[in-house]
Amino acid sequence: MQAKNQKIVVLGTGGTIAGESQSANEGLRYKAAQRSISDILSSVSGAHAQWPAALDNFQLASEQVAQMDSKDMDFGTWIHLANRCEHWLTKDEVAAIVITHGTDTIEETAYFLSQVVHSAKPIVLTCAMRPANFKDADGPQNLRDALSVAASLRGSGTWLVAAGEIHHSQFVQKVHPTRLNAFDSGETGLAGRIQSDHIEWQETFVSPSIKPSMALRQLPDAAQWPWVEIVMNHVNASPLHIDALVHAGVKGLVVAGTGNGSINSKLKESLLRAQVSEVEVRVSTRCNQGAVIPNENHQFDATGGLSPVKTRVALLLDIMSKQQSH
Ligand code: SIN
Repeated sequence: MQAKNQKIVVLGTGGTIAGESQSANEGLRYKAAQRSISDILSSVSGAHAQWPAALDNFQLASEQVAQMDSKDMDFGTWIHLANRCEHWLTKDEVAAIVITHGTDTIEETAYFLSQVVHSAKPIVLTCAMRPANFKDADGPQNLRDALSVAASLRGSGTWLVAAGEIHHSQFVQKVHPTRLNAFDSGETGLAGRIQSDHIEWQETFVSPSIKPSMALRQLPDAAQWPWVEIVMNHVNASPLHIDALVHAGVKGLVVAGTGNGSINSKLKESLLRAQVSEVEVRVSTRCNQGAVIPNENHQFDATGGLSPVKTRVALLLDIMSKQQSH
């Protein structure tokens, strides 16, 4: 028998993929983060007598990094998770990392890892919309698919695999609260699909070149991270909370603007005042497709082309990187 000389390490963080409900018929009322990553992996191998052929040369190892509902994800856990990724990826025998995570904030974690983990090897995140004991749980298949994708990828990148789809961390968003296929990569579209263990990459998909913004070892402790909030433009949006946030010590503000990043006049004035008080302001769009195209009406930086939640992660890292260089 051929030696399995490469390893894929599966890091568990909780989420619905590790969730349990009262009965196998209850898919909406459940508790996330109940099952350990080793239990989840055993249920995947138990449900399928054979692993996909793509895994023939790989051993699987696992580590429980966290056990949480991802709505409670925090900076401390991010730093720990990124460190565990870097720890494993620096080992010659480790070819890739797979992370199980709740769907609610998985896109933020994926984007964060893409910015701070410097490796030539891939990270693949996966999740589930139904708890692990549900009669038609989607977690086992999603994890199996994520492992196949991790085994097949050559090179760096942070990806999300769910519902037979392969998304890039830069573009993916959760777009539906309950649907089994809850993710979308907007105008960029999917990187690929996986069905019955067969991966089909989209020929037109071009991986974005990611220049990681900050070295992981340079990140300060979670308690020292700057305070960055997201505010939204909408009809009659009040400027009062901006002034209150500045007064309370906010260091960065991301505006989920309307359309191409527009902001009502009063809100804009309060943001200009915030900028004078050295608060960093970035503009994104509340539209869930497309990116803001910067123009002369934008008085704040609108260049990232990221969703509001990812713009916030980018701004957090930007502020911390500036603090490092001072
Ligand atoms: C979570 O995000 O941890 C709970 C919801 C989910 O995984 O679908």
